Amino acid sequence: MTVTSTLRKNTKKLTLNNGQKIPVVGFGTWKATGEGEAYKAVKTALQKGYRHIDAAEHYHNEEEVGKGIKDSGVPREEIFVTTKLWNVDHKKVREALDLSLKRLGLDYIDLYLIHWPVATDPATNEPYKDWDYVDTYKELQRVMKTTGQIRSIGVSNMSIKQLEKLLSDEEVTVKPVVNQIEAHPLLTQPELYDYMASKDIKIEAYSPLGSVNSPLFKNETIVDIANKYGVEPANVLISWAVQRGTIVLPKSTTEHRIISNLNTFRLHRDDFDTLNNLSSKYGVKRTNDPAWYNFE
Ligand SMILES: NC(=O)c1ccc[n+]([C@@H]2O[C@H](COP(=O)([O-])OP(=O)(O)OC[C@H]3O[C@@H](n4cnc5c(N)ncnc54)[C@H](OP(=O)(O)O)[C@@H]3O)[C@@H](O)[C@H]2O)c1
Repeated sequence: MTVTSTLRKNTKKLTLNNGQKIPVVGFGTWKATGEGEAYKAVKTALQKGYRHIDAAEHYHNEEEVGKGIKDSGVPREEIFVTTKLWNVDHKKVREALDLSLKRLGLDYIDLYLIHWPVATDPATNEPYKDWDYVDTYKELQRVMKTTGQIRSIGVSNMSIKQLEKLLSDEEVTVKPVVNQIEAHPLLTQPELYDYMASKDIKIEAYSPLGSVNSPLFKNETIVDIANKYGVEPANVLISWAVQRGTIVLPKSTTEHRIISNLNTFRLHRDDFDTLNNLSSKYGVKRTNDPAWYNFE
């Protein structure tokens, strides 16, 4: 049975806990590292209607991302740009931010995230003994307040335990606006989802399509739902994330997918619930699980 669905270009915004607005569907840039790849993808994405770009120092393509932003012709103030602080830079936030801004060709960013709550000593590649991510976060607070180069700050890959520690520190006076975490129907993280809602910290869903060689596109339940509505599996996954109230960051360097991924529709309640409970049938699947990190 096919049901009617209307795919629409999603240009909606959510309001963060500091009042700043963020476009719900953002554009991912991880692994867009071929010559000119990130440049072309970002420029195309912006020209086709995206207004939110998710970058990171560690993606090694900030220069191309910045050129794509510039050459898109879209005014800077209409674009929400995020970049992230890498693990070995936790003790030099100001310097790392300046370098990111320089590579991006921007004089401010909308959101600066601690990429992982892991402060690594570059000399030994081991975690610092005298410094952790809470110290780093306080630096982000300070740099935001003193430089005007950052509009909002947030975190990524943080568990409830880590957020509790951060939020209970009396010198942490600015709440993170988001926690960017892996999220798709095989990794719904219901406890973390409820905790974040209770703290008014938005989830940014990364790897929403299940990343490279995704198992989700072959999942028969997802394919059946896509066929039922006459849409692509990617539209189902992105629409589910939006319906869940999360910000969603699909990545593509393929023009027709970049265009298609911005289109969302509303799932019927039973299909939405089927996706919410997909792990009960197929198990939990984390695609981004670095050996050096413990998600507990
Ligand atoms: N904070 C963190 O630690 C963290 C970790 C991971 C990701 N992220 C962010 O989240 C973004 C998204 O995650 P991700 O890059 O891991 O993966 P993703 O967006 O879930 O999936 C990207 C993969 O799906 C393919 N794809 C895209 N649209 C498609 C479509 N409509 N149909 C079929 N295949 C499609 C892409 O191929 P093509 O490009 O070839 O089209 C690519 O191989 C990243 O780019 C990054 O910005 C953050």
